[in-house]
Amino acid sequence: MATIQLKTPVPGPRSKALAQRREVAIPRGLSHATPVYVARAEDAVLEDVDGNRFIDFAGGIGCINVGHRSPRVVEAIHEQTDRFLHTCIQVTPYESYVRLAERLNVLTPGKFAKKTMFVNSGAEAVENAVKIARAYTKRPGIIAFEDAFHGRTMMTLSLTSKTHPYKAGFQPFPGEVYRIPYAYCYRCSYSLKYPSCDLYCARHLEDTFKRVVAQEGVAAVIAEPVLGEGGFVVPPRDYFQTLIEVCRKHNVLFIADEVQSGFGRTGALFASERYGIEPDIIVMAKSLGGGLPIGAITGRAEIMDAPGPGGLGGTFAGSPVSCEAALAVLDIFEQGDLNARARELGDHFQKRAAEWQSKFSIIGEVRGLGAMQALELVRSHETREPAAEETKAITQYCYEHGVITISAGSYGNVIRLLMPLVITDEQMDEGLAVLEEALQTLCGSKHEVAESVVGR
Ligand SMILES: Cc1ncc(COP(=O)(O)O)c(C=O)c1O
Repeated sequence: MATIQLKTPVPGPRSKALAQRREVAIPRGLSHATPVYVARAEDAVLEDVDGNRFIDFAGGIGCINVGHRSPRVVEAIHEQTDRFLHTCIQVTPYESYVRLAERLNVLTPGKFAKKTMFVNSGAEAVENAVKIARAYTKRPGIIAFEDAFHGRTMMTLSLTSKTHPYKAGFQPFPGEVYRIPYAYCYRCSYSLKYPSCDLYCARHLEDTFKRVVAQEGVAAVIAEPVLGEGGFVVPPRDYFQTLIEVCRKHNVLFIADEVQSGFGRTGALFASERYGIEPDIIVMAKSLGGGLPIGAITGRAEIMDAPGPGGLGGTFAGSPVSCEAALAVLDIFEQGDLNARARELGDHFQKRAAEWQSKFSIIGEVRGLGAMQALELVRSHETREPAAEETKAITQYCYEHGVITISAGSYGNVIRLLMPLVITDEQMDEGLAVLEEALQTLCGSKHEVAESVVGR
């Protein structure tokens, strides 16, 4: 039976009424991709307040890798709510925090001694990673990448690349942040081609230390192993190894931001494993909590111990309910095969998308790692002009036909897939059929693209 059930044109009357209340009560800066209000969710399916059912290809922006309301996670939360809700880890600690730290210390890449602390979000995890790296190295500088996204707090906005809508109007940002190009081969900043480029962009870090900021002033390089908001860009397999070699040579730490790429999304618990790298610090959030807010920072023990007692923390950081949810998430990965499922979903998408590429000229690139898959849409293969309006039209079409998708990319021209990894084959195919229909309807040929998006 079809999962998608649209009982009303969307948004339905109840969602519309809520949207009106929202407009009065909530600032417009908090925008949303789809104006349907959720009533319930299960696995990879959302139901709205008007009884419409959608296949969820967004997963709360990558937070629901184990599925909506995963029974094990829900049970762990229920059990914890019967015991206690909050004490504050800095006042009266609890065992689940310690156990979760112990497990992440083992599960994260690298056989060295590690320590872990918890926070409430991805941005807070990045903030703390920067504090810890600075405390350890006694250096101020942080090198981040073009097209990076690390959050919306002031320090993480400084590290984030995209200007509109994230950064514009919010200056000044904290300083000592330097930016270099990422290995975005489809839009190489140096107009080179892999592998003949010999990873020029990674080796160029040496040049940055000579011409932009001296290495003795740099605490860390922070990178997403696969760009998230930046458009699911996957660097060549040997890119990070080369980059880390340069970092190590100059005693600069390497921080992997696995907030979006972590917890099975790329076909391994951490994307770093797919590159065979061992970051000095890893930051996590999103799917770690199975739907509850929690972020984590795991790093080499001596680095994590650099800030003195009281230098780290937060009132709700590592809430006991979120810790139990995260422990359940780790159990699910340990006892199931979600990483294999992610690779399977990714392969399936790649095959379908390769067929689309031969039919729809708007598809500039199909790319991804595991189930972190995307289509970059362009108006011309020659100029690679980003097809941002068309991307909007496609996500709108999908939503109107029962599939929640979200876009990404500095140019807003990437459609990214973050479906829960528990999605069934039937649901995946149903969702992909709608996406294909959107491409066919809106972008059947170059000419149609131009006409169909006018006025949208
Ligand atoms: C790679 C990455 N880092 C950090 C963040 C910020 O996380 P949060 O929204 O939980 O603060 C995000 C959010 O999308 C992200 O994708």
